Amino acid sequence: MCIRDRISSSAAPVVSSSSVIIPSSSSVASSSESGNVNTIILQENQAGFCAVDGTIDSNNMGFSGDGFANTDNAEGQSISWQVNAQTSGPATLEFRFANGGDPRSGDLSVNSGANGTQPVTLANTGGWTDWATESVTVDLVQGLNNIKVTATSDQGLANIDSLTVTGAGVSAVSYTHLRAHETSLHL
Ligand code: GCU
Ligand code: CA
Ligand code: CA
Repeated sequence: MCIRDRISSSAAPVVSSSSVIIPSSSSVASSSESGNVNTIILQENQAGFCAVDGTIDSNNMGFSGDGFANTDNAEGQSISWQVNAQTSGPATLEFRFANGGDPRSGDLSVNSGANGTQPVTLANTGGWTDWATESVTVDLVQGLNNIKVTATSDQGLANIDSLTVTGAGVSAVSYTHLRAHETSLHL
């Protein structure tokens, strides 16, 4: 879960200001670095992954991490992530996906469209256990960035195994402290 979801769903419990926790860069997502450009791999159930309109599954082999994000097969279903960037500028997003059906189309938006929206098509990969990658370039702002892919056909998105982000000082946003706190408060 990401901070945006916490804010939008925080009709709920009031927490005293002393319990607010500042998000920190994560050591959970794997990372490599060259100059100030580095690469992080975001996996379901780890830092940087926010939500899927559907399920996290592991029935189709060949995925990395714990499984893959499987949207429900309907238009408007989405998957979202959050990353921090040290400076504004271009970044490459590489989606690893599988698709045993017709091409699945979607709109990729960064920061709710403020930093661009572009169509992505996730082609048939030969089967639900055959994985491929699709890369796009986007502009990130300095600080927190929301990345979201929303299905534009009634079949939903392809199954997404991971999102690899390469950019200037990118890091996955970790909310493990917040989650631990939520658990202890039964929020
Ligand atoms: C199959 C496959 C799912 C996939 C679905 C779909 O049921 O096993 O992982 O998400 O097709 O059509 O989207
Ligand atoms: Ca699906
Ligand atoms: Ca995965």
